[in-house]
Amino acid sequence: MVCVHIAPSILASDFARLGEEIAAVAAAGADFIHIDVMDGHFVPNITIGAPVVKSLRKTTDLPFDVHLMIAPVDPFIDAFAEAGANILTVHPESGPHLHRTLQRIRAAGMKPGVALNPATPAGIIEPVLDDVDLILVMSVNPGFGGQSFIASQLRKIETVRAMIDKTGRDIMLEVDGGVDSETAPKAIAAGANVLVAGSAVFRGGPGAYADNIAALRKGG
Ligand code: DX5
Ligand code: ZN
Repeated sequence: MVCVHIAPSILASDFARLGEEIAAVAAAGADFIHIDVMDGHFVPNITIGAPVVKSLRKTTDLPFDVHLMIAPVDPFIDAFAEAGANILTVHPESGPHLHRTLQRIRAAGMKPGVALNPATPAGIIEPVLDDVDLILVMSVNPGFGGQSFIASQLRKIETVRAMIDKTGRDIMLEVDGGVDSETAPKAIAAGANVLVAGSAVFRGGPGAYADNIAALRKGG
């Protein structure tokens, strides 16, 4: 049985009560807190930046899994490290020097991740496999929560799983977008071991979080 980690995306939480929402999903069994950072340029939406992440750091000891949908990335790496991010994931399209960006993330004390958009081929990560601790397969186009899972990405998860297994390294394989109790088992069967979920965790309010998280984990 695969050990599956659940990473609630706070994009779907009540932003007026962010700290309480994080405490509630932590108490409900979350493994990571997934934080979507958007700049209105790399993706057509704006969310939050490093100062908010820093304020939220005191609400939980769970790892902060920060997904950067911004360009450029490099000028902000140190700010996210200082804010307390543990995993920092970037899209290859956000800058011309992916390898250097990943090295800078590691040098700043965080685990580097690479995110693949639905149209980005898995092969792009081959040359940087030694430099990543997480690969994120996007199962929706980045920018918004609440979209439907793009089934064709299951094949990409399988491909990435085979690439990771060949390295013998313990690289996390994360899936993000439209993950719910129907799609989670398919993503896990394809090889994912970290599930990001916004709508499927936060629907129903705090009283439902534990059941929502358990339902996602059951797929493993
Ligand atoms: C989309 C974000 C996702 C999003 C997932 O750009 O990267 O993390 O919050 O939301 P759901 O689970 O609602 O599809
Ligand atoms: Zn995300």
